[in-house]
Amino acid sequence: MLQGFSERLYTSPFSTYLRTEFWIIPVSQTIHILCVAIVIASAAAISARMVGVMGRDQPLADFAKARAVWVFAALIGLVLTGSVQTLAEPEREFGNPIYLTKMALVLVATGLSGVFLILLKRQTPLSTGGRIFGFLLVFLWALITICGRWIAYL
Ligand code: HEM
Repeated sequence: MLQGFSERLYTSPFSTYLRTEFWIIPVSQTIHILCVAIVIASAAAISARMVGVMGRDQPLADFAKARAVWVFAALIGLVLTGSVQTLAEPEREFGNPIYLTKMALVLVATGLSGVFLILLKRQTPLSTGGRIFGFLLVFLWALITICGRWIAYL
């Protein structure tokens, strides 16, 4: 079913336009990778604040909230640019298990990041479990980044 849908989408005028207009994919990929950098840098900064190596003059919850705004803005950019790339090459993406895994992980990581923010609001100071949770989130975003790059090789 997904294959039939991908095939029809691939031959649609919109998908053909995205693929053949020479600047669209490079520009979309460039914005995608800049948004990845924002997500990873912001998540890493929150971890650095948790261990006290940066932003010690600001409460952890305020520090994290300021970075979370950037993470969620970058996620919007990732959804938009990722959709452009998906619509341009639907068969390449929907037929790829790493792409599907990456999409599932994006949903999980976005949900867990929301949970982490709620935890930060409720717990002062953040418990050890809460800190471990925060560190694991950085690894989850890194895993998604690895999946993104590996889509091209499977
Ligand atoms: C719903 C959101 C997203 C969609 C729809 C999406 C979709 C895509 C697509 C279609 C590609 C091209 C893969 C290929 O054909 O080679 C890609 C590449 C990539 N994505 Fe995403 N993505 C999303 C979110 C993310 C997130 C959250 C991250 C990491 C934090 C990420 C990291 C990457 C990386 C590192 C690449 C490889 C870029 C390159 O080497 O040029 N993506 N993504």
